Amino acid sequence: MVDRFEKRAIVVALTLVLSFFVLLVYAAKGLGADLPTCLPDAKPFKQGELIQLGDKRYQLNAVAKMWNFEPNEIRIPAGSTVDIYLVSTDVMHGFHVNNTLVNLMAIPNVVNYTRVKFDKPGTYDVICHEYCGVFHQNMVGKIIVE
Ligand code: CUA
Repeated sequence: MVDRFEKRAIVVALTLVLSFFVLLVYAAKGLGADLPTCLPDAKPFKQGELIQLGDKRYQLNAVAKMWNFEPNEIRIPAGSTVDIYLVSTDVMHGFHVNNTLVNLMAIPNVVNYTRVKFDKPGTYDVICHEYCGVFHQNMVGKIIVE
């Protein structure tokens, strides 16, 4: 028999699960954050580059390595949507874009993906937030939105 404390515990647990789900949907839709995704079938690339796909549509192939990002600085027009593909060629690195919800891990031999839209012009620092060696603190890139 389920007593009323158990019932209460079940209700609390279900409410929590439901509210996390609602927050997740809100982050994805309301805040425009695509959920970071690991792409197990994608082939890791070695070279970083920014590719223009269309009007205000870009693909950023980002390579993290000791101790910088490649490309280290990119320029895009305001209102651009960027598909970010991220790999590491050595150890684990972080990839956080200031003033956005972009927060990825760069993992050797794995491609991680997210999508972000840059509405406001400005300079967005890209910061490695995973300790990766003696010059970890110097590992900063820039996304310049014009
Ligand atoms: Cu790369 Cu810390």
